[in-house]
Amino acid sequence: MPAELIVIDGPAGAGKSTVARRIADLFGAALLDTGAIYRSLAWLARGRGVAWEDEAGLAAIAAELRIEFQPPAEPGTRQRVLILSPLEAPERGPIDVTGLIRSPEISEGASRVSQHAAVRGALLDIQRAIAATSVAAGRGCVAEGRDMGTVVFPDAAHKFFLTATRDARASRRHKELTASGELAASGEAPSRSEVETEMARRDQRDSSRETAPLQQAKDAALIDSSELDIDAVVARIVAAVRGPGQTTA
Ligand code: DC
Repeated sequence: MPAELIVIDGPAGAGKSTVARRIADLFGAALLDTGAIYRSLAWLARGRGVAWEDEAGLAAIAAELRIEFQPPAEPGTRQRVLILSPLEAPERGPIDVTGLIRSPEISEGASRVSQHAAVRGALLDIQRAIAATSVAAGRGCVAEGRDMGTVVFPDAAHKFFLTATRDARASRRHKELTASGELAASGEAPSRSEVETEMARRDQRDSSRETAPLQQAKDAALIDSSELDIDAVVARIVAAVRGPGQTTA
């Protein structure tokens, strides 16, 4: 496949992260997890005592934020997320926040910090630079988030909007959180109903914000994963990217 940009948007729990990872692996492309960038910003802000409502304070942190994605510790798991050279402890070197940014508190924080136009603007360059580097290197990139197809990469070669009923998404997210040990670092393990309540709040906030709300791009293909397993979703995307008649790698 040519080195292209594939974007996948959609709400939490629709299967975006897993699907994006599988597609990136299949095509040997880089994976740009933009939610991890908002999560890292929320995590840094909390550590510095900057409120998630403080737009100017958050934008200042966003402007200096340097993030690197590295291959996962184990194949098939989430890639590692490193924050580079944070001001408070440059001698510490990169901070591995892979597990730390998955707690319910930071999920809520990421959704809140992402409301601010100045924050979104300050994070545009970091997202575009990561994708551009991979595409220029001939690898291609799979970018996942909420506004990839509408705002950050309006000219992406392939756009998908992946969604599912809230019930299906909450069940999946709860299973993922409890099974993967992702929360081991934070020691928090929410119940199924806590996950659903948090999801409903985030859905509402992410979809109704003024700047770059969660929205399907006009030219994005809609996939409802409520009744589909991951393999079926991946197969649909791969077929669409390869185009008619292309069934092999
Ligand atoms: O995909 P995620 O659950 O890791 O995203 C965490 C939050 O970050 C989500 O609630 C909204 C925000 N976000 C965003 O506003 N824009 C993106 N492109 C990605 C995430």
